[in-house]
Amino acid sequence: MTTQLIPATIESYACDYSSEESNVLAQLNRETHLKVNLPIMLSGHLQGKVLEFISQMIQPKHVLEIGTYTGYSAICLAVGLKENGLLHTIDINEELYDMCQSYFEKAGLSKKIIQHIGHAAEIIPRIDCIFDLVFIDADKQNYHLYYDLVIDQLPIGAYILADNVLYDGEVLLEQEKQSKNAKAIQAFNEKTRADHRVIQVLLPIRDGLLLMKKISD
Ligand SMILES: C[S@@+](CC[C@H](N)C(=O)[O-])C[C@H]1O[C@@H](n2cnc3c(N)ncnc32)[C@H](O)[C@@H]1O
Repeated sequence: MTTQLIPATIESYACDYSSEESNVLAQLNRETHLKVNLPIMLSGHLQGKVLEFISQMIQPKHVLEIGTYTGYSAICLAVGLKENGLLHTIDINEELYDMCQSYFEKAGLSKKIIQHIGHAAEIIPRIDCIFDLVFIDADKQNYHLYYDLVIDQLPIGAYILADNVLYDGEVLLEQEKQSKNAKAIQAFNEKTRADHRVIQVLLPIRDGLLLMKKISD
């Protein structure tokens, strides 16, 4: 993701009229921008609030996040967890483990967030849990695989969210001009649209957020 799909002035206005970023999330946002590669990957204030809202509306018992990065979206998604609820988050990059842990602690969520390090495709089948909310936000080439790994296991009524489904607007280009990742995202968008087990809406916020709900087996 390199350019801004929503005009910066509109994004800024939307942030101004959304609830404030918590101190912990603002600090995490700042530290990620100062110290970590590719800070553009962090969900940020506006999308973070959307994730928080969705989580608070669903009040999930178990959440699966694929792609922790520095833990911003994990904290947002954990906000709406039911009492005794748990969020499992997976990332292949072990270098960010300690930073995530320290922010989960600061947010008072360290007992509610379980961090897994490794390839998501290997870890997902090992987590023995019925999820009511899944957030796909890792390597774009494997979105289809993550979807296939979770969809059969989800109960009817569960939700799947997928980030970056506009892939910097590249999904609009002719196929020959699309990057490998954009092609993978386009194929994922086609696949989920054709899957009658889910209903979906694509929100053009940030880099595109796809919301799906499982309605049949
Ligand atoms: C876009 S970032 C996640 C951003 C985070 N969800 C947020 O909103 O703040 C994508 C993350 O996926 C991780 N990732 C890439 N390939 C992966 C894989 N095969 N398994 C698990 N994580 C992977 C990367 O290390 C990176 O931290």
